Amino acid sequence: MITFPRGRQVVLGVGAGIAAYKACDLLRRLQDDGFEVTVVPTSSSLNFVGKATWEALSGQEVKTEVWEGTQSVSHVALADAADLVVIAPATADLIARIASGRADDLLTTTVLATTSPVLIVPSMHPGMYLNLATQANLETLNARGFHILEPDTGRLTGKDSGIGRFPETARIIGKVREIKERAARLKGRKVVVTTGGTMESIDPVRFIGNRSSGRQGLAIAFEALREGAEVTVISGITEEYELSGIKRIDVKTAEEMQNVLEVEMKDADALVMAAAVADARPDKFAAEKINKGELSEISLVKNPDILAGATKVKKSNQIFVGFAAETGDGIREKGLKKLHNKGVDLLYVTDVSHGKVFGETETSGVLLSKRGAEWGFTSADKFEVGRRIVAEVIEELGLVNG
Ligand code: CTP
Repeated sequence: MITFPRGRQVVLGVGAGIAAYKACDLLRRLQDDGFEVTVVPTSSSLNFVGKATWEALSGQEVKTEVWEGTQSVSHVALADAADLVVIAPATADLIARIASGRADDLLTTTVLATTSPVLIVPSMHPGMYLNLATQANLETLNARGFHILEPDTGRLTGKDSGIGRFPETARIIGKVREIKERAARLKGRKVVVTTGGTMESIDPVRFIGNRSSGRQGLAIAFEALREGAEVTVISGITEEYELSGIKRIDVKTAEEMQNVLEVEMKDADALVMAAAVADARPDKFAAEKINKGELSEISLVKNPDILAGATKVKKSNQIFVGFAAETGDGIREKGLKKLHNKGVDLLYVTDVSHGKVFGETETSGVLLSKRGAEWGFTSADKFEVGRRIVAEVIEELGLVNG
């Protein structure tokens, strides 16, 4: 069974304010909204809510410093994987540190390293919030593209009241949804992904096919969904999976795949041809099982090259991604040749020597672009490769926002 990451990733940064206890509820509601939350508290915030609480609520290890447990997730990996960073509560000191580009704990280092949107939820005493220093820091962050949610006005922890209250959880969640919506770079775009192997029947029992679990194509479909795309998966023979949000069309043969693809490509913005298409099929299907004594040879006819056919009618604003599975030396060079011969914008060439890759969660290979850029992967998670491919499709479509 192919499984998918539980949801989009949020880093919840917690500053040392009394409102830290309210962030426990925020964490829960983010989880309800489908986010997988990694909590990164500042060390002084642990005076308000301790590590054990965060670990129990998030189900994940909690660290405050860059040098803690470096064998697990590093700040860079955390920054890369995050779809969004939410800092709630953000104290005056934490805001000052972020505004001045400091990287003196795990949270500020992650914020500095991420390219994902960051939402700051300031919460502090009105005197500190309205202080010109804090206001100037917030302005700096605003100018740098950080999202800032103005605090509520009302009763504070002590007897006084004013601006600085931690907003109601629902308001923060509303803002998170708004940011995610805006950050979905493939919203309104259609991506077609073929995946799995085709199956060409010889008789009711036997078939010719290519090895493929469908994992890589599905990882790409998943990442495209995350970016808000309308995703059609033309699914050959794969391991079992369930991926909600896609339009799934199951096919068996190369011809069926080609027919469906022709229709689906008419209004598509991108095609990811990850399927392992059988290059040939038996020239005739035997309705009755062939006796093994008579099974000395099977005559074959060539299957259509689906990608080549699609390339012939490719519109100039459509982006195509091809795949190649190679063995032996010069994998990259073989890939480069195919990139040009196939007329695709991007091509992922993977090393399948000795049956590697098939059915595994990891892959090694090189993503090549017709512009000459390339990205190498060694035993990388297929979702990581998927993320890179989708990012490059977005780039090729000219949809990169600042
Ligand atoms: N492909 C296709 N139709 C086929 C065969 C392959 O669309 N009948 C697509 C695959 O989905 C993949 C790419 O073409 O994106 C692979 O290219 P191809 O040249 O077929 O690779 P190989 O089968 O490895 O080719 P060769 O045996 O010539 O090396």
